[in-house]
Amino acid sequence: MKRYFLVTGIILLTAFGFTRLRPGKKVNEPYCKNELPGEKGLRDYYKNYFPIGVAIAPRDLKGDEASLIISQFNSITPENAMKMGVIHPEENRYNWKDADQIVDFAQQHHIGVRGHNLCWHAQAPRWMFRDSAGNLVSKEVLLQRLKEHITTVVNRYKGKLYAWDVVNEAIADDSAQFYRNSLWYKICGDEFIAKAFEYAHAADPKAVLFYNDYNTEVPAKRQKIYTMLKKLLAEGVPVNGIGLQGHWSVNNPSKEALEKSIELFSSLGLQVQITELDVSVYGGHQGGQLVSSGFHRDTASAFTPEMEQQQLEKYKMIFDVLRKYKKQITGVTFWNLSDRYSWLDGRGRKNYPLLFDKNLQPKKAYWAVVDF
Ligand code: G3I
Repeated sequence: MKRYFLVTGIILLTAFGFTRLRPGKKVNEPYCKNELPGEKGLRDYYKNYFPIGVAIAPRDLKGDEASLIISQFNSITPENAMKMGVIHPEENRYNWKDADQIVDFAQQHHIGVRGHNLCWHAQAPRWMFRDSAGNLVSKEVLLQRLKEHITTVVNRYKGKLYAWDVVNEAIADDSAQFYRNSLWYKICGDEFIAKAFEYAHAADPKAVLFYNDYNTEVPAKRQKIYTMLKKLLAEGVPVNGIGLQGHWSVNNPSKEALEKSIELFSSLGLQVQITELDVSVYGGHQGGQLVSSGFHRDTASAFTPEMEQQQLEKYKMIFDVLRKYKKQITGVTFWNLSDRYSWLDGRGRKNYPLLFDKNLQPKKAYWAVVDF
């Protein structure tokens, strides 16, 4: 009898112990809700593919958000801290505070940093384009200012950043125009693009230099970007990669369109990175611009089961494709950390575009992305 109890006890203890010791067993099947991520982070699941990054602000460097970054990601992009208007608000004044904090955090936790960005039509300070009387400056003056800006910023973080988005969004969405009619273009023509890459390369020859844009799966825009990159490469301009921003949605892009973009751009010998990934729960092309300044972080617009399912499927398709092209893809970065805050909330309604929910818990889409 004693022996019977002993054997039964051992069997029960063993079974119980196993169940408790293996809480991760079920997490990948089939995308269970409310499971904590296991010991593995996104970067571990993707260690044989590409680094996984996230765009962050200084507010993310503490508390549960910092823990989530450290446990999941091996690359960081400052969401706004390195943009010209933030880091160089006046001609003779640089504001390093936010960018330094982010780079220090990354170094402390052995996380790589992508710099974003050196030349963009948006978030550029007014002083850059004007003289003291308020008139537009000449091309020579503007290129000299651009050179000074790029040289100073790239030098400061030299050896601490592995890549830079050098020129951002220089191509027009409008089919009637080739280049965006920004002040950069109005004053310099397209020359500012080549110059920006040359200045960045001179300051840090080891940094991988990207041209970065959105709607790169829209055929007409894709073709214009391709033509521009081909020309830059033919002229010997030091561009090393194309950033597909990846502001996508539940019905965009198609698998075919995404594959076509990766194949086309990598045929130029360029690295391809997805630099600003999110999947809006509202359909259509997101583009890259804010259309409303009113933030709606806690409005009633719900994350419905239908959105959840569509988003999961889109994320699964995207990552299936990215893994398939692992030779061409050298990095994938999410634009913001969790649904607690997304830049898309500034478009008039709450969005839920990321892999972590407002409580920083992995969504079903997370498990779809790591289930391969
Ligand atoms: O910092 C000020 C704050 O002091 C002020 O009180 C507040 C009032 O609105 O504005 C704050 O600045 C905002 C800034 O984000 C920081 O939150 C700006 O208004 C707002 O325009 C800015 O938006 C950023 C946007 O770029 C600017 O176009 C988003 O955070 C950022 O996610 C977004 O990122 C871009 C990429 O760099 C390039 N690709 C598209 C992508 C999405 O637009």
